[in-house]
Amino acid sequence: MKILAAGVIALLSLAVLLDANQAGEKAKYTISEVMVKAHKEGLLKTVASGKASEAQRKELAELYKALSQNTPPKGDAENWKKMTGALAKASAAAAKGDEGAAKSLAKLANCKVCHDKHRED
Ligand code: HEC
Repeated sequence: MKILAAGVIALLSLAVLLDANQAGEKAKYTISEVMVKAHKEGLLKTVASGKASEAQRKELAELYKALSQNTPPKGDAENWKKMTGALAKASAAAAKGDEGAAKSLAKLANCKVCHDKHRED
């Protein structure tokens, strides 16, 4: 009976985890792809400067949504969710024309803080 209960609890926690991770929806881009497109090629800067087209703002929102659905190579999952969730939320608002949210992205995408915590050296 104890074993059964433990099994049920394990299954329930797994279900909660999967749900938190948007029910296993697979990320459209890998972390590397997001880094290259959004950060190396300068999409983030364009959007944060307020000069991006609607298509560019939407692309960044897609990239950050995918980022939040990825699992980082290292570091605390909660912190990853917090950092990437903030990026996904602000970029989604920016895609809809919220200029304040677009500007806030430059601060939210803190390269060093995130790399120190989540990037493998
Ligand atoms: C929310 C976390 C996070 C933020 C913010 C972040 N990065 Fe990254 N970045 C990562 C992780 C994790 C990797 C390692 C990916 C891997 O090894 O799969 C990475 C890798 C990279 C890479 C290597 C990509 C490759 O594989 O070719 C570049 C370039 C990069 N980041 C640039 C930046 C720049 C520039 C910024 C700031 C504008 C930034 N990143 C902000 C998490 C982040």
